[in-house]
Amino acid sequence: MSPPSVRSSGPGANLSAAYFEARYQILREPLGFPPSAAKLPDDDDAIHAWIEMESNQPAEEKMMVVAVGRIHLIPADSTGACADTVDENAAHCPDFPPLGTHGFSDGAGNDFPPPKLLRPAVQIRQMGTLENHQRKGHAATVLANLESEAVAQWGECTGFLQARVAAIPFYGAQNWISFGDEYMVEGIGLHRSMWKPLNTSLSPDSLVQNRTEGEV
Ligand SMILES: CC(C)(COP(=O)(O)OP(=O)(O)OC[C@H]1O[C@@H](n2cnc3c(N)ncnc32)[C@H](O)[C@@H]1OP(=O)(O)O)[C@@H](O)C(=O)NCCC(=O)NCCS
Repeated sequence: MSPPSVRSSGPGANLSAAYFEARYQILREPLGFPPSAAKLPDDDDAIHAWIEMESNQPAEEKMMVVAVGRIHLIPADSTGACADTVDENAAHCPDFPPLGTHGFSDGAGNDFPPPKLLRPAVQIRQMGTLENHQRKGHAATVLANLESEAVAQWGECTGFLQARVAAIPFYGAQNWISFGDEYMVEGIGLHRSMWKPLNTSLSPDSLVQNRTEGEV
C-alpha cells in the first residue's frame, strides 16, 4: 500500500467526490447537517489541500481522502464575514475585527498591526481529519501546505481562522495565535479567532504585545 500523500489544487480546483465525502464526514455529518452543507459558496476561489491514501476496503474507491482543508483570499473590501455553507439558512461566520478600518486591540492587550499591513489576508476553513486517522500529523501537513500555497499564490500575507474551541490546541501547535473573546457560531458551537503572519516582516512576537503568559 502506498503511504499517505498530500495534494493541493486551486483556485479553480476540480475536487473529487472523495474530498467532499471526507469533509462531510469530519465536519458536517457529526453536527446533523445535510450532505449539501459539505460545499461552500466560494470553494472555486480557494486553494484546497488534502491527504489521500489507498483504501483497504475493497468495496470503496481505490483512493480515499483522510484529511482536508482550504484557504482563500479575503477580498480587499471584506473583513471576513461569510455564510457558512451554500444552504439558504446557513449559519453566519463573523468578521475579523483586526481587518476593520480602526485596527484592533483585544482585552488581553494584543495590539495588532494596522489593517493595511495585514493585507493580503487569507482565511483557513474546513480543516479536519477523519477520526481514526487523527494524531498522525495529517492536519499539520495540510495546514503547512495551505500556508505555503497561499504565499505562492497571493504573496506574503496574514492568515486568519475561526477555530472550534476543541481545535485551538491543534492550531496553537502550528504557531497560530488566539485573539479576542470566544463566540458562538449557530449550529456549530463555540469558536475563537486565531491569526498567523505568513510572511517574514510581521512577527507575532514583535507585533502582538502583552500576550498573557502561556496563552496560544
Ligand atoms: C483538529 C484536527 C483537525 C487535528 O487533526 P490531526 O490530523 O489529528 O492533527 P495532527 O495529527 O496534524 O496534530 C498535530 C499536532 O497538533 C496538536 N493536536 C492535534 N490535535 C490535538 C488535540 N485534540 N488536543 C491537543 N493537541 C492536539 C498536537 O500537538 C499534535 O501533535 P502530536 O500528535 O505529535 O502531539 C482534528 O482533531 C479534527 O478533525 N477535529 C474535528 C474537526 C475540527 O474540529 N476541525 C477544525 C475546525 S476549526
